[in-house]
Amino acid sequence: MNNNTDNLNIQWFPGHMTKTKRKIGSQLKLIDAVAVLLDARVPYSSCNPDLRSIINNKPRIVILNKCDMADQSETKKWLKVFKDNNISAIALDCKTGKGLNAFIPTVKNVLADRIKAWRSKGMTGRAIKVMVVGIPNVGKSSFINRMARQNRAKTEDRPGVTRGNQWFTVSKGFELLDTPGVLWPKFDDKLVGERLAYIGSIRDEILDTEGLACGLLVYLRDNHGSALCQRYKLSEDEIKDKQSYELLSMIGRKRGMLIPGGEIDTERAAATVLDEFRSAALGRITLDRAEDYPNVRI
Ligand code: G4P
Repeated sequence: MNNNTDNLNIQWFPGHMTKTKRKIGSQLKLIDAVAVLLDARVPYSSCNPDLRSIINNKPRIVILNKCDMADQSETKKWLKVFKDNNISAIALDCKTGKGLNAFIPTVKNVLADRIKAWRSKGMTGRAIKVMVVGIPNVGKSSFINRMARQNRAKTEDRPGVTRGNQWFTVSKGFELLDTPGVLWPKFDDKLVGERLAYIGSIRDEILDTEGLACGLLVYLRDNHGSALCQRYKLSEDEIKDKQSYELLSMIGRKRGMLIPGGEIDTERAAATVLDEFRSAALGRITLDRAEDYPNVRI
């Protein structure tokens, strides 16, 4: 059993990236802009650092998705950080659709000069085409479906486009293309790997969930102590100076998670802690703090 995050064994398989880079690259000439979906709880960690070189100098719009689960004040700070770095960004929540209406106007704003140029050439009927990119589970399908439903879209497979690419007409003159291929996250940076694992972006089957939950509990103890205490009916005194595994055991005991013989089922406790964190039952928590990434680049 690992009891600290140094032993957290996160592995990933970056081999598929080359294929995805090629696929995205080959579609770039068909699109006008890229919508980069990030998870509002981890706007830095959920951005594949290779993306900038993959999408080259295409105009881009950042979408902070799942903002219903992120700390509202942090999301505001993130929007400001993007603005300060001249990147158009909006926050939304595909669960309820909140914020979705800002998307098309923001894209049109980013492409204003281009749209003007099309008009001056008489290309008034030209559709705006946007590629939606993001790591698995960030909400790409939910976003496209929401946009499509909201705007009464129809799905079509385009002739002349590699098979399997999905174009969605979300409104007259506005089309979305789902990420061709899978844009894996990248976590050379240990902190990035941990945070992606905490939010559930990495399949738990390849992780040591007890080690992961222990790491998360230490983070919560140090940064969100009262949320941790409230959720698991613990006192600040009880959690102070506790080792991560002790914290996990305390939670298992509180929840009556015992295995025959009376021992605490820490595996079950770990799964519970992770589930509850991921569903925001501990509150809206942003792991990547905007102030730590003032020079964000996409
Ligand atoms: P992907 O295409 O990028 O892989 O992501 P996808 O849309 O499949 O979304 C992954 C999960 O995230 C889904 O949950 C989806 O409902 C959830 N999700 C997407 N956007 C939001 C959001 O803005 N807020 C919240 N809270 N959740 C969001 P799931 O549990 O995998 O599926 P389901 O139970 O919704 O069917």
